[in-house]
Amino acid sequence: MRLVAPAKLTLSLQVLGVRADGYHELEALAVAIDEPHDVVTIEPAPSASVRVTGPYASGVPTDASNLALRAALLADAAVAITLHKRIPHAAGLGGGSADAGAVLRALDRPDLAPQLGSDVPFCVRGGAAWMRGRGEVLEHADVPALGVVVAVPPLRCSTPAVYRAWDELGGPRGRTVEIDGLPPLRNDLEPAAERVAPGLAEFRAALETAAGRPALLAGSGSAYAVVCGRDGDGEVAARVADAVDGTVFAGRYLPC
Ligand code: C5P
Repeated sequence: MRLVAPAKLTLSLQVLGVRADGYHELEALAVAIDEPHDVVTIEPAPSASVRVTGPYASGVPTDASNLALRAALLADAAVAITLHKRIPHAAGLGGGSADAGAVLRALDRPDLAPQLGSDVPFCVRGGAAWMRGRGEVLEHADVPALGVVVAVPPLRCSTPAVYRAWDELGGPRGRTVEIDGLPPLRNDLEPAAERVAPGLAEFRAALETAAGRPALLAGSGSAYAVVCGRDGDGEVAARVADAVDGTVFAGRYLPC
């Protein structure tokens, strides 16, 4: 079985507070996008295993800390999983969760998603959703057809480190960005991500200048996205690719 595992793009991420379990209470708006995506292949095998290929294979664990393998082990499924990694890791695009989500879809075990991580329920479902709780409580969101240019700097953000920095900074708020057809968007993790990855603010400034539009931080970073019209915007993508030091993807919202 071969599955596409789309990246998850948070258009907005408000942190409402810190919970007793240390997690952060969220209200986020997320969409699945067609690029970048991973390709997940699953075959029956004597025991569960994972193999990683593709341009972003480097650094992805193949032991029991791999989320896709954990999904198979939790489901008690003897399958050989191959992950063709095209989603950069530690970029806030939910790559590991996307792979685990694809495995749970293939095994028809969406019920296991919350145990694997806050983003996995969204990745099983796809489309567009409001994410609440620690991210696992989903509600359908109406999002118009839109294109996105995703720019990934040569910087990485560890999610726990960004949440820790948010706590240390005293719970900052992000900028509010207005985009036609969407509610006001704001990512409260942005000031924290800028502290964890010095150079990120400069990257955003270069991206916004090249695109001529505001850029939205993806999740806990380090990727940024610029929202374009429904057919995407090849011209914006080309300008951004020329101007910034990073990898650029032209994607589209993928309704479910
Ligand atoms: O749930 P998941 O394992 O993906 O979360 C990774 C880390 O991100 C957690 O250990 C926690 O530090 C942080 N996190 C958080 N609040 C959330 C989601 C994640 O503090 N709502």
